Amino acid sequence: MKGFGNATIIIPISLCFIFIFIYHFEDVLAAPPTRHLCRPEQRDALLAFKNEFHIGKPNPDCMEYSIEPHPRMESWVDNSDCCTWKGITCNAKSREVVGLDLRCSFLHGRFHSNSSLQKLPFLTTLDLSFNDFYGQVPSLIGNFPHLTTLNLSMNQLSGQIPSSIGNLSHLTTLRLSENNFSGRIPSSIENLFHLTSLQLSLNNLSGRIPSWIGNLSHLTYLYLHFNQFSGEIPSSIGNLSQLIELSLWGNNLVGEIPSSIGNLSQLTLLSLSGNNLVGEIPSSIGNLSQLTLLSLSGNNLVGEIPSSFGNLNKMNIFQVSQNAFTGTIPSCLLTIPSLRYIDLSDNQLNGTLEFGNISSPSNLEELSLGSNNFKGPIPRSISRFVNLLYLDLSHFDTQGRPVDFSIFSHLKSLRSLYLSHLNTTTTIDLNDILSYSKILTLLDLSGNHVSTTNKSSVSNPPSQEIDSLSLSGCGIVETRFQQ
Ligand SMILES: *[C@@H]1O[C@H](CO)[C@@H](O)[C@H](O)[C@H]1NC(C)=O
Ligand SMILES: *[C@@H]1O[C@H](CO)[C@@H](O)[C@H](O)[C@H]1NC(C)=O
Ligand SMILES: *[C@@H]1O[C@H](CO)[C@@H](O)[C@H](O)[C@H]1NC(C)=O
Ligand SMILES: *[C@@H]1O[C@H](CO)[C@@H](O)[C@H](O)[C@H]1NC(C)=O
Ligand SMILES: *[C@@H]1O[C@H](CO)[C@@H](O)[C@H](O)[C@H]1NC(C)=O
Ligand SMILES: *[C@@H]1O[C@H](CO)[C@@H](O)[C@H](O)[C@H]1NC(C)=O
Ligand SMILES: *[C@@H]1O[C@H](CO)[C@@H](O)[C@H](O)[C@H]1NC(C)=O
Ligand SMILES: *[C@@H]1O[C@H](CO)[C@@H](O)[C@H](O)[C@H]1NC(C)=O
Ligand SMILES: *[C@@H]1O[C@H](CO)[C@@H](O)[C@H](O)[C@H]1NC(C)=O
Ligand SMILES: *[C@@H]1O[C@H](CO)[C@@H](O)[C@H](O)[C@H]1NC(C)=O
Ligand SMILES: *[C@@H]1O[C@H](CO)[C@@H](O)[C@H](O)[C@H]1NC(C)=O
Ligand SMILES: *[C@@H]1O[C@H](CO)[C@@H](O)[C@H](O)[C@H]1NC(C)=O
Repeated sequence: MKGFGNATIIIPISLCFIFIFIYHFEDVLAAPPTRHLCRPEQRDALLAFKNEFHIGKPNPDCMEYSIEPHPRMESWVDNSDCCTWKGITCNAKSREVVGLDLRCSFLHGRFHSNSSLQKLPFLTTLDLSFNDFYGQVPSLIGNFPHLTTLNLSMNQLSGQIPSSIGNLSHLTTLRLSENNFSGRIPSSIENLFHLTSLQLSLNNLSGRIPSWIGNLSHLTYLYLHFNQFSGEIPSSIGNLSQLIELSLWGNNLVGEIPSSIGNLSQLTLLSLSGNNLVGEIPSSIGNLSQLTLLSLSGNNLVGEIPSSFGNLNKMNIFQVSQNAFTGTIPSCLLTIPSLRYIDLSDNQLNGTLEFGNISSPSNLEELSLGSNNFKGPIPRSISRFVNLLYLDLSHFDTQGRPVDFSIFSHLKSLRSLYLSHLNTTTTIDLNDILSYSKILTLLDLSGNHVSTTNKSSVSNPPSQEIDSLSLSGCGIVETRFQQ
């Protein structure tokens, strides 16, 4: 394996962004109505609110989230019934303004503590998401006693979450994701017993996840990911028996995963990746029979992957890479029929690899086992994962055995194939392996013996668009490859 020349061809993947803007400028020249159905003081408040902001450009995230941008306020003109304006909902009887939906409405400007919004006290729904509001959220936000839905996500609001939010005692949905908030979760949120959805992700919130969170017993969605939360995950979280999605990834959480999480029997999504969690995976997580996504990657978890995970028969995505897991893969895990994506790379999993009884046809699209301590033969049954797009077996130690590379010839959908450092005596025929999948774009054979029966076709791969070919330490000394 030593003393060979280096040869690497990397053709960068060209990225292509296509933005399609669709504007619907609706008719703003509505016929003047003969009577004002909305309350005049509420119409005036809305017109004053309109004047507090500029109508600028659409928030680019609207398109990314497939939310149609619309400058709704352009239909807000004096002498017309405000209940007919875009984005306004009135109570059918009282004609009070109860709903304000200004998502993706091109609004730009600072929120003032004297905003005319406060003159709309009957609001039940307020959606100002996907605009360009900045400044602090004024504490007047606590002055809407009937509010059930508040969505200020995807703006540039900064400062702390005002504690007055705890006055919104009917709130069921609170979305403040993707702003610039800092500080702690205000303890007044503990009063919001009716909350079913709490989404504070992608801010700069810090401090602990409060243990009173376990008292918000109606919560179904809890998104706190990508903040600066520290401390342990409170075990009281296991009391949120209605929880469907729990996303805490990308924080600074420490300590062990509380075994009480295994009580969350409705959970379909559990993401704790990218923290500093330690200890073993509680086997109670194998009780979460509704799970479709489990992500624990990028922590310091140890021990074995519990065999109880083989019971998670709705699982789609299983990610535990970049930890320090040891032992073997429970073979029943890989045979879960719904599984599409499994990433076990960068651990210390060891022993021989067995795939068990692979369902036919397997739905698995991504299988990452690279950078572990597996030893022994590569199981021939790998050829039954016929829908694989991505396969990583790098650093699989075949202990000097020959490898029959034709087992990969059945994987006709492969786009990325990582087979570096297999410690095999077999010389890989590059032209053969390139012929297995016509859509292969990434091939890594570094650290193996590679031969090329037809060198010209390698420097200019024939039928496919190979973007990255890594052959470092492959024994090919060929100046053409030196770039
Ligand atoms: C609200 O406050 C801002 C700045 O504090 C001020 O410029 C504006 O005139 C005030 N608006 C009203 C309606 O009082
Ligand atoms: C804002 O949140 C509410 C409540 O969850 C939701 O109904 C609405 O669709 C959200 N707005 C956008 C643009 O996603
Ligand atoms: C919000 O935070 C981002 C990233 O930290 C920063 O670039 C941006 O200037 C901030 N915006 C405001 C209005 O503070
Ligand atoms: C609203 O919340 C603030 C801050 O928590 C509090 O001081 C105030 O008394 C509350 N107002 C009402 C009407 O509950
Ligand atoms: C996040 O908050 C910390 C304080 O907790 C502050 O030092 C830091 O500047 C903030 N970062 C951003 C991008 O706002
Ligand atoms: C949850 O609420 C109960 C009843 O109000 C209270 O006694 C308990 O201390 C709360 N738990 C936490 C962790 O705050
Ligand atoms: C869960 O709730 C029960 C009953 O409300 C309470 O006794 C228990 O202390 C709570 N558990 C945690 C970990 O907060
Ligand atoms: C919740 O989890 C804890 C710790 O795993 C356990 O002791 C308790 O019995 C569980 N409670 C319920 C209601 O399942
Ligand atoms: C949950 O998991 C634990 C540990 O694996 C087990 O002892 C317990 O019986 C399971 N509970 C249920 C309800 O399946
Ligand atoms: C796997 O690693 C663990 C921990 O390092 C060790 O105890 C065990 O013997 C190893 N198993 C095999 C089959 O090598
Ligand atoms: C594997 O699956 C097939 C068909 O599902 C079954 O007939 C066979 O007994 C299974 N083999 C083992 C070892 O479980
Ligand atoms: C490769 O296999 C040989 C033979 O089993 C073994 O002695 C050697 O340690 C292996 N090399 C690596 C880098 O694992």
